[in-house]
Amino acid sequence: MASVDSTGSRVSGRLRSGDILHTGLVVALLLGVWSVGGLEVSTGKVPHLFAINGSTVLLPCTYASCIGIKNLYFNWHYNNNGSMMKLCDAVIPIEGVEPKVSVFHERVEFVGTSKGNNISILLYNITYEDDGEYICFARNEKEKNRNHSASYMLYVVDQMKEIDTTLTTIIVSVVGGVIGLSILGMVIKALVINFLLKDDEKNKECLVSSGNDNTENGHSGAKADNKGTPKA
Ligand SMILES: *[C@@H]1O[C@H](CO)[C@@H](O)[C@H](O)[C@H]1NC(C)=O
Ligand SMILES: *[C@@H]1O[C@H](CO)[C@@H](O)[C@H](O)[C@H]1NC(C)=O
Ligand SMILES: *[C@@H]1O[C@H](CO)[C@@H](O)[C@H](O)[C@H]1NC(C)=O
Ligand SMILES: *[C@@H]1O[C@H](CO)[C@@H](O)[C@H](O)[C@H]1NC(C)=O
Ligand SMILES: *[C@@H]1O[C@H](CO)[C@@H](O)[C@H](O)[C@H]1NC(C)=O
Repeated sequence: MASVDSTGSRVSGRLRSGDILHTGLVVALLLGVWSVGGLEVSTGKVPHLFAINGSTVLLPCTYASCIGIKNLYFNWHYNNNGSMMKLCDAVIPIEGVEPKVSVFHERVEFVGTSKGNNISILLYNITYEDDGEYICFARNEKEKNRNHSASYMLYVVDQMKEIDTTLTTIIVSVVGGVIGLSILGMVIKALVINFLLKDDEKNKECLVSSGNDNTENGHSGAKADNKGTPKA
């Protein structure tokens, strides 16, 4: 009985999260439609960056705008434990014109180019104090100066890259193993169910005579219904 109850609540929980997912999707779609044509600032797909102490790291950032740019102002900030430290800033008058960049940090160099909509910077000779959040900000006069930014975390590490990659390998293999095992489990389950069903057909009279069977069928039927609704 207890196991049936827990399945029931799990199913309704899944339903509720499905509703939230749908709402989130609608909101995301609306936001997506709303921001079409606007400026986009991106630091790439990865929200984290690992760099070895003493190395030099590229902090990538690009912008894109389908309505074009005019007097695009951009800057880079380092979030030093809550207080923002400006690293550099500049204005790109129009597309293709290289900005005159003011740099406020001795180890920062602007390496972007307007030809690639690239406003990346280099940070030289990294120390552990450089750990933290880096924010790339841009504002386009062509769209009422709306603010756009993208950021990521820089983690300064010791010569730990090997360990890091082996850890990743381990995680990937474990995750892969779990997925593989669950697939194997599903296949075995399918085979067993198939086998049992064939068996059931032979022993139908036995099953019908067992009293508990009705409720179990009812529950598995409800489960199947509930699983069907979120997909629709
Ligand atoms: C970090 O790198 C700098 C420069 O390479 C070096 O002087 C310093 O000792 C290093 N710090 C640690 C904790 O390894
Ligand atoms: C960050 O600020 C908090 C409180 O302002 C302080 O306790 C903490 O030590 C600071 N951390 C660093 C790394 O400076
Ligand atoms: C980085 O460190 C090297 C060697 O310590 C030094 O020659 C170079 O000037 C440093 N670069 C910057 C931008 O500080
Ligand atoms: C931006 O420019 C830097 C320096 O030239 C380059 O290394 C980087 O790959 C460029 N990024 C993109 C997204 O084009
Ligand atoms: C954009 O950011 C600036 C500070 O950089 C702020 O003063 C301004 O109010 C922001 N504008 C909007 C529309 O959020």
